[in-house]
Amino acid sequence: MSATYLMPTYNRQPISFTRGSGSWLYTKDETPYLDALTGIAVCGLGHCHPQVTDAIQQQAATLVHTSNLFGIDWQERAGEILCTSAQMDSVFFANSGAEANEAALKLARLYAHKQGFKRPKVIVMEQSFHGRTLLSLSATANPKAREGFYTLDDDFIRVPFGDIAVIKQAAQDHDDICAIFVEPIQGEGGLNTAANGFTYLEELQAECEAHNWLFMLDEVQTGNGRTGKYFAYQHSKARPDVLTTAKGLGNGFPIGACMVRGRANGLFGAGSHGSTYGGTPLASRVVHSVYDVLANSDIMDNAVTEGLFIRETIVDALGQYGVSSRGAGMMIGISLPENMDCSQLVDRARDEQKLIINITGGHVVRLLPPLNMSRDESTQVAERLIDLLKPSF
Ligand SMILES: Cc1ncc(COP(=O)(O)O)c(C=O)c1O
Repeated sequence: MSATYLMPTYNRQPISFTRGSGSWLYTKDETPYLDALTGIAVCGLGHCHPQVTDAIQQQAATLVHTSNLFGIDWQERAGEILCTSAQMDSVFFANSGAEANEAALKLARLYAHKQGFKRPKVIVMEQSFHGRTLLSLSATANPKAREGFYTLDDDFIRVPFGDIAVIKQAAQDHDDICAIFVEPIQGEGGLNTAANGFTYLEELQAECEAHNWLFMLDEVQTGNGRTGKYFAYQHSKARPDVLTTAKGLGNGFPIGACMVRGRANGLFGAGSHGSTYGGTPLASRVVHSVYDVLANSDIMDNAVTEGLFIRETIVDALGQYGVSSRGAGMMIGISLPENMDCSQLVDRARDEQKLIINITGGHVVRLLPPLNMSRDESTQVAERLIDLLKPSF
């Protein structure tokens, strides 16, 4: 495999897969690897889910693209099933998480503009990740990712995640805030959950209501059943004005969505936003098939049961060494002692255990397995990780 013509934007692992099925990835020589990462929270239904494969194959042979200059029946159908599941009013289909977030952040600016703001600010969180387009990158916390790109730092107020007092303080200090934009669980930033769990979202929404700000959730990673609900906010009584998603939405087929409700509905009109590819017949039919599977199976319940099982099995075995777990459903963080050297863990898990994992926040093993993993596979994820980690203690 030669990467000569590829820009070196990723530190790629020295392996590639030629085939995937369910929770398993296979190399050219058919060596199976247990996938507890699913392409970074993307293939929630497992690799090559038959219903999704069928949707892709049928639509690829029927009609792939017409552009949004025309009505797209599958986009209407995908919009209905998605908005109904997400409890939102309408959707704009994009092609990725960053694009969905770009739409959300543009909406917030338009919302402010219509009220006469000169240069509005959006509250975002430390350790957040929202994407790589300029506006979504500006909202992202990681200074290394932002370095050199002249990000629009003055348009954002960055506060610690999970702390409602700092939001109240920001409301007193600034009169130009138009929205809060937050991940219900921070994925890239360390699998961080708020101390009071999803109640934090209710507190944030209350502040938004009090100050007439938009309450905007980035569910690019937490959405589409990942945490055991269609969207993570549904674990709470909170309701966002703007909701973005991508990743699991297409189970590997690229598509993103920005949904709106109530006062955020109707802000975008003809010409104010768009995408040549957004919501093609092919991508939309895939979304419809993913939501059809989620709605007509026990997959989301399975994500909760198996996610808890994986966490409990690991903490039962390694809790005595200071290992703890956090997350929801199949979005799992296994927190290792801070002084532990984790630099080789991803490579060792792959080579010694044939297990695909990821490390985030320096010392947190991030597990994002398929939502429909069997008990035998969940047991193997836990046991392979325990076998990998135990000798280090
Ligand atoms: C919470 C969150 N938002 C946005 C993004 C960006 O999504 P994409 O890589 O599809 O642009 C990601 C990707 O990791 C994410 O986790």
